[in-house]
Amino acid sequence: MEIFIGTEAECDELGAREIANQIKSKPDCVLGLATGSTPEGIYRKLVEKHRNGEVSFARVTTFNLDEYVGIPESHECSYHYFMDTNLFRHVDIRPGATHVPNGNAPDLNAECKRYEEMIAQSGGIDLQLLGIGPNGHIGFNEPGTPFESLTHVVDLTESTINANSRFFESHDQVPRQAVTMGIKSIMQARRIILVAKGASKARVIMKAIKGPVTPKVPASVLQLHPNVLIILDHDAASELTSCIK
Ligand code: F6R
Repeated sequence: MEIFIGTEAECDELGAREIANQIKSKPDCVLGLATGSTPEGIYRKLVEKHRNGEVSFARVTTFNLDEYVGIPESHECSYHYFMDTNLFRHVDIRPGATHVPNGNAPDLNAECKRYEEMIAQSGGIDLQLLGIGPNGHIGFNEPGTPFESLTHVVDLTESTINANSRFFESHDQVPRQAVTMGIKSIMQARRIILVAKGASKARVIMKAIKGPVTPKVPASVLQLHPNVLIILDHDAASELTSCIK
């Protein structure tokens, strides 16, 4: 596991450069993408790199980690909307090459199976970008999720509902369920980059990187992956650096 610690701008630049390099070395690569506050700066930098002519998404395929159940794709808080406004509409990715789970599918279990099959048919994920929840979740794999899990429907925990209520008008409007790639789906990616920013992630980053590998801290599973880069700003790294000093 490789760890980079820097300013927020350096984290965004490194995250974008890693993704751009992945695309340059394999133009038809498959990217696993995340939403939330953390990757916004990385997507902004990637859009800049695309506009500068440094990177083309023309042959790239993407799979997003997750989507809420029961809000329309056009809803400002849906992950379809997030990806469209933060990345897809600003780059030359082909319509049809971007995939986000359908949280409105009439049969959600069938949707999970279909999503998992599509990832496999695409040849699997080359590079998976991850954020981390304050409770250690990756995707929406909440504490206790089995490491063997594939794409599934999840009941969001109160901690995640609270953390994500900042994006919604009120706490009550946060969906209670989501479809998420599972821990096994994530671990099957050939390379994983986890990014964390801010003091609210410091404790869980410490647990995920230095603590025991346990479903109680889903991100701790990354200790078992052979090709992981962790990108931290100084605040998110503060408990790690104080233990090293
Ligand atoms: C989003 C996702 C989540 C977030 C995590 C951190 O697709 O899968 O695991 O990465 O909740 O969210 P932020 O970045 O908003 O702190």
